[in-house]
Amino acid sequence: MNKKIRYVCACANGLFKVRGSRFEVQTSSLDFYPRLNSYYHPGQERAAKVHELFGKIAPRYDLMNDLQSFGLHRYWKRRLVRLAAPMPGLRALDVCCGTGDLALALARGGAEVVGVDFSERMLEVAKSKVQSPKSVQSPKSKVQSPEPQAQRQTAEVRGQRTEDRGQRSEDRDQRSEDAESTAAAFPSRFTFHASRSAFHVSRASPPTFMQADAQSLPFPENTFDIVTVGYGLRNLERWEAGLSEMQRVAKPGARLLVLDFGKPDNALWRWIYFRYLALFIPVLGRVFCGDAAAYAYILESLKHFPAQRGIEEKMQDLGLTNVKTINILGGIMGINFGLKRA
Ligand SMILES: C[S@@+](CC[C@H](N)C(=O)[O-])C[C@H]1O[C@@H](n2cnc3c(N)ncnc32)[C@H](O)[C@@H]1O
Repeated sequence: MNKKIRYVCACANGLFKVRGSRFEVQTSSLDFYPRLNSYYHPGQERAAKVHELFGKIAPRYDLMNDLQSFGLHRYWKRRLVRLAAPMPGLRALDVCCGTGDLALALARGGAEVVGVDFSERMLEVAKSKVQSPKSVQSPKSKVQSPEPQAQRQTAEVRGQRTEDRGQRSEDRDQRSEDAESTAAAFPSRFTFHASRSAFHVSRASPPTFMQADAQSLPFPENTFDIVTVGYGLRNLERWEAGLSEMQRVAKPGARLLVLDFGKPDNALWRWIYFRYLALFIPVLGRVFCGDAAAYAYILESLKHFPAQRGIEEKMQDLGLTNVKTINILGGIMGINFGLKRA
């Protein structure tokens, strides 16, 4: 039997069971999975396998993010950045920065940003984005940049403007919502920053990208005003060590934010979502990266990760204050945030 047919049968076998004359949908077992997870190795081999995985998928990583989330990861990352409230004069660290989306967005907010990751290939992609001036252009300068008259009148640009206006008004609604949650969570001096930082940016310098292990960051304690991680903790051999490191390098009063795949509380929704991760995502991985296992890894790593609830608990154990969890789309994604005690 060829590989693709075997793969579909393995998935179907995990979803359905024939009992006597009955055909049942399996609700608990994902046991067909480990066969596809050559990249998930608990213990010491974990880091080497994760490193191999990201080295392999780096060139297609951004494309796959867009495909698997239908572009929504951009919106979730924007939301995290709004909560982080970057602005000139603040130092920000993005851990497990990968291809640099969050680091670049924090830099666009005016903060001085460092992005760290242990994969050279992912960092290469991140650095290539810095070379394109658009990547660190502030939202304001983008809107104000002079355009030639003729070009301004093309239908294409007009269409783009209408789209941008729609996007901006959607962003405004979300921003005021986030400013409210930031206001509830953060002391007043941060609230002001949160509501204005996304609009008023005059200068932006690109992030510095460097190779480092998230579980032992090469920075002294109390260095950063903002420390973020997107889809990173889940990949660490010891995610608690990663979070502790984030807290160690954060200044007193700094904002810590974590974005990752979540585990919905609602059993039916969780079942649907896990099946989506089990069936659809590896097929995308196979088609666009030539490797189903690389994307089957998402669910496997999530099964071994406590997700938003566990992160919230650990943030509290670490003594962070104003600890909050934002569940997105019924908990399929989670943003955790907290402040390092001043
Ligand atoms: C899923 S990607 C996330 C990339 C990016 N933050 C984003 O939101 O798109 C996870 C990243 O974590 C990095 N990573 C995994 N383990 C790491 C470790 N121990 N130290 C540093 N980076 C690590 C990987 O190389 C990969 O780039």
